[in-house]
Amino acid sequence: MNILLVGSGGREHALAWKIAQSPLVTRLVASPGNPGMAKICELAPWKPTEVARLVQHAREMVADLVVIGPEVAIAAGLADALADAGIPCFGPTAAAGRLESSKAFTKAFAERHHLPTSRYRICEDRETAHAALADFDPPYVVKADGLAAGKGVVIAPDRAAAEAAIDDAFAGGFGEAGQIIVLEEFLEGEIGSLFALCDGRTSKLFGWAQDHKRAFDGDEGPNTGGMGTYSPAPVFDLDLVAQTDERLVKRAFKGIAQDGAPYRGVLFVELMSTRDGPKLVEFNARFGDPECQVLMLRLESDLVPYLVACANGTLADLPDPVWRDEAAVCVVLATRGYPGKAEAGSVIRGADADFGPHVQVFHAGTSTDPDGTIRAGSGRALNVCATGADLAEARERAYAAVARIDWPEGFHRTDIGWRALAR
Ligand code: GLY
Repeated sequence: MNILLVGSGGREHALAWKIAQSPLVTRLVASPGNPGMAKICELAPWKPTEVARLVQHAREMVADLVVIGPEVAIAAGLADALADAGIPCFGPTAAAGRLESSKAFTKAFAERHHLPTSRYRICEDRETAHAALADFDPPYVVKADGLAAGKGVVIAPDRAAAEAAIDDAFAGGFGEAGQIIVLEEFLEGEIGSLFALCDGRTSKLFGWAQDHKRAFDGDEGPNTGGMGTYSPAPVFDLDLVAQTDERLVKRAFKGIAQDGAPYRGVLFVELMSTRDGPKLVEFNARFGDPECQVLMLRLESDLVPYLVACANGTLADLPDPVWRDEAAVCVVLATRGYPGKAEAGSVIRGADADFGPHVQVFHAGTSTDPDGTIRAGSGRALNVCATGADLAEARERAYAAVARIDWPEGFHRTDIGWRALAR
């Protein structure tokens, strides 16, 4: 099979790493890819939003499947354009992808289709939003309606901070994404990330993990795209998984099909495990980043048949995926300043060392000079991942590898997995 994989982050590097192991694959091209991916597949130059170019490239390479990594490609309508061209695609249409691309759509969707979630208000101007704060108690959750690369959420401890976040959003602080905002009730509980595949009709659970969204140790600092993950996450006992499947996954896939946009791809359910059961925090229309990294390390089954089945409507023919009975941990290394202003271009040394069979280093936001020097971008740069017999061993291996990477301008959290280890 010929596969075109769209995207350039750590998630896509992990997908490429797993796809490249499949005996079904003869040619794998990533567009635009990254220096880590360049070592395991061909690269094409097109960005995820260059829809016409990507469709053309898929045609030219006679792609049997296009795998969409990032949400921007979904919102740009890549799956729609590929469907028009008759090219199988793993990834939802822009209409189905509204489950991620509009938080306001998703809140209304959850209400319409009876998915448990927090109380909310949608606000289209600053004054309405200030007034609506009276409907909530602190801490206040202020969210951009649109796509903001995981950075469109502020948890404000008091009213003054919430008003400042609202003012910032309407002044363009979240870019275009924040011209409509959603205020939400703060949910008490433990966060989790659960994944499910769907081919438009049949759905299948596809693993779970826990992310660390805040920038600094102890869950302090601003929200980020994710600073580290581990899987399995003990928050997901059998009961929580079953309830999430019933109340969130199946209702979402049924609802979006009833709304005329059957879902093909992976749905990422970010949920809060509360005293009243799982509640939806938000949906994402793609694998989580860096959740995907730990899932790919633990996935024993060949990934490719699942991707193909979602595209072709044959998911019911496949068994449930098999997961390795091992733990996996991912530690994100980012440029100091992320998720705020951070200087791109610092040199990372030692990332390409041989860390042994239990460690994988995925590139997230890097570039290389002609002499092979690796440079960081202005955000998340590397994902140092490891497996082990249990979480403690996986974590020890990951942090031992992190210690060997020489990057003074980078930072990382030192407490990935703390909730599980504290149990
Ligand atoms: N790690 C959270 C996300 O991918 O949005």
